[in-house]
Amino acid sequence: MKVLVVGSGGREHALCWAISRSAKCKKLYAAPGNAGISQIAECVDISVMDDAGILEFCKSEKIDFVVIGPEAPLVAGLADVLAQAGIKSFGPSADAAQIEGSKGFMKDLMAKYGIPTAAYGRFNEPDAAKEYILRLEEKVVVKADGLAAGKGVILCHNKNEAYAAIDHLMTERAFGFAGDEVLIEEFMEGEEVSFFALVDGKHAIALASAQDHKAAFDGDTGPNTGGMGAYSPAPIVDAAMHDKIMEIVINPTIKAMADEGCPFTGVLFAGLMISDGEPRVLEFNARFGDPECQVLMARMQSDVLDALVACSDGTLDKINISWSDDTALTVVMATNGYPGHYDKGSEIKNIAAADAMDGVNVFHAGTKYDGERLTAVGGRVLGITAMGKSVLNAQTKAYKAVDAIDWPGGFCRRDIGWRALKR
Ligand code: AMP
Ligand code: GLY
Repeated sequence: MKVLVVGSGGREHALCWAISRSAKCKKLYAAPGNAGISQIAECVDISVMDDAGILEFCKSEKIDFVVIGPEAPLVAGLADVLAQAGIKSFGPSADAAQIEGSKGFMKDLMAKYGIPTAAYGRFNEPDAAKEYILRLEEKVVVKADGLAAGKGVILCHNKNEAYAAIDHLMTERAFGFAGDEVLIEEFMEGEEVSFFALVDGKHAIALASAQDHKAAFDGDTGPNTGGMGAYSPAPIVDAAMHDKIMEIVINPTIKAMADEGCPFTGVLFAGLMISDGEPRVLEFNARFGDPECQVLMARMQSDVLDALVACSDGTLDKINISWSDDTALTVVMATNGYPGHYDKGSEIKNIAAADAMDGVNVFHAGTKYDGERLTAVGGRVLGITAMGKSVLNAQTKAYKAVDAIDWPGGFCRRDIGWRALKR
């Protein structure tokens, strides 16, 4: 099979790494890819949002299967464009991707079908949003309806912060039209977990659980980021919790999407808050999480390509996925300054030494070769992923690999895995 992976992050490097190990993959391409991906796939310089360019490439290279990594092209309808041309892909249609692309759609769906989540209101006018806040507890969450690269969610500790958040999104239009509508949500307390299921429209297979670390700095302090590290499995998801999540969250959601006329295919990523043994949905995403995908691919033992293709063929009921019992742990290295302003072009040395360590994979995100020099060109740049017999063992290996890398322009958290270790 000739496979094209769309995207350029650590998630896509991990997917390329796993797909390249499949006996069925005869040729692997990535659009646009990154320096790490270029070692295992042929990178083509096409933007993830250039659906005409991607379609033309697929036709000219006779691509059999496209794996769409990020949310933006899914929400914009890349899977539909490919399907219309008879090209198979992994990822939902634009209609189904609304589950991530519109928080209002997602919340209304959950309300209609009784899927547990935070209480909420939807507003397209700032005064009405502010009036609603008067009736709530001090702590609330204000969210832009549309995609805002993970930055459209504002946790407010009192009403003044909430008013300011509404002004920021709606009046100052910090994220453009993503803030034409806002959601105001009840603030949920508890422990967060990422839960993934492959879906073919009708059937779902749960993947392993994972926990992300969203805050930029140690001790979960600092601003929120795309994710600074992850591990899998997440001890909070024991067998009983796993079954409960499938029964009250994943299966009803898949049925709801089919009933609404937009059956979901691809990977359904539920961000959950667990409190007193009860999971509630923070959000749904229509794609793999990053860095969560890196730990999932590190632990997956079955042929990932078979599973991804089965999502598009509607044959997931014939697939079994097996996992390593070991823990995988990813430490993200980011450019100094991230998630705020950062400079591009700093040189990274000694990756090979880290990559060569037993049980370690260095997945790239924002990297680029400048001649022979490997340079950092993004916020999140590397995902140092280690396998170990325990969380502590995986963590020790991952930081040993981090310490082998020579990159004064970057930083990482030093406490990835702390929740599991505290148990
Ligand atoms: P989202 O993009 O909707 O997942 O929100 C980003 C992050 O904000 C989540 O991972 C949570 O840490 C936090 N968050 C979102 N909604 C809520 C909520 N209703 N209560 C508490 N925290 C939340
Ligand atoms: N790591 C969280 C996300 O990909 O949304």
